[in-house]
Amino acid sequence: MKIDGTPYRSVWVNEQDGWSVRIIDQTKLPWTVEILRLTTVAEAAHAIRSMQVRGAPLIGAVAAYGLALALRVDTSAEALERDAAMLNSTRPTAVNLRWALDRMLARLRPLAAQERVAAAYAEAGRIADEDAAQCEAIGTHGAPLIAEIAARKPGKRVNILTHCNAGWLATVDWGTALAPIYKAFEQKIDLHVWVDETRPRNQGAFLTAFELGKHGVPHTVIADNAGGHLMQHGEVDIVIVGTDRVTRTGDVANKIGTYLKALAAFDNNVPFWVGLPSSTIDWTVSDGVREIPIEERAGTEVTMVTGRALDGNVATVRVVPSGSPAANPAFDVTPARLVTGLITERGNCAASEAGLLSLFPERQAA
Ligand code: MRU
Repeated sequence: MKIDGTPYRSVWVNEQDGWSVRIIDQTKLPWTVEILRLTTVAEAAHAIRSMQVRGAPLIGAVAAYGLALALRVDTSAEALERDAAMLNSTRPTAVNLRWALDRMLARLRPLAAQERVAAAYAEAGRIADEDAAQCEAIGTHGAPLIAEIAARKPGKRVNILTHCNAGWLATVDWGTALAPIYKAFEQKIDLHVWVDETRPRNQGAFLTAFELGKHGVPHTVIADNAGGHLMQHGEVDIVIVGTDRVTRTGDVANKIGTYLKALAAFDNNVPFWVGLPSSTIDWTVSDGVREIPIEERAGTEVTMVTGRALDGNVATVRVVPSGSPAANPAFDVTPARLVTGLITERGNCAASEAGLLSLFPERQAA
């Protein structure tokens, strides 16, 4: 997607040297677009842990490239296992991290040591390219949901609510929740996006608003607590969110606050859809609430807020009395019964084991 007319992906190999890895530092958005150069596995791990890159599919792609950087230093089987385990420990909830590293290991383990570096870059490149293609396909399958609503209310805009950032910045390109919106926007459907600010890290206010704005998509940032009220007053036609892990039964882990939006949508008969590439499905778990590990992040993300001060400088300020402790669970799980459906690269399905297996029959016995 584009920033000020220039097309970007969220991760790519540096054309100048052919081996280091470029990312957009998402901790600096929306204030500045700063491109970082990752040269070591430690820098890749730091980028994931510190959320310079974030979003489930992008975390997976950066970890894959991180393993390629690691292999430039040590191609031994021991180092391969050690560095993959270290990358895998950087963030716990998004299953794409484990998925990408398992795929890299399956490709690299059988090879001779001297073949591993080139193979790692090639496999990481395939992971990135496939993610971009899958996200575009999510857009193709999701856009008709928006078009159907538009057809039911001629002359009026379609209002879509989204939570967190599940746009191109959270993936390699296109996004998951935002891909259907970009596709519908390309089709000239009159639409508008309610963007949850998504405290505590403000991925909605900082990132979703940034990328929608750069693409010219009409949007309005709202406080996280506003969604239920807007739904009660007919101001939301559909909710579309992304996800960090979906169980084989269709439970959806996503950024904290998603569950409350699903409850409000359910109570107001607003369809609640989830966009995801198949790399986000964890076929090994069935009970999302009990089995998906929920990342607990630093309380300072709750007690402190960063923004641009009136003097133009970016500043971080405390918004909680000193001495008050803060808790910061970063994700929650929306049970499948509250999810209208899943939008995947293979099409749309019910949020259930039968629904997912209808699209991914090869998982029947897994
Ligand atoms: O903590 P983050 O920013 O890495 O959160 C992950 C996400 O971007 C969201 O939960 C998103 O909605 C799903 S990932 C496309």
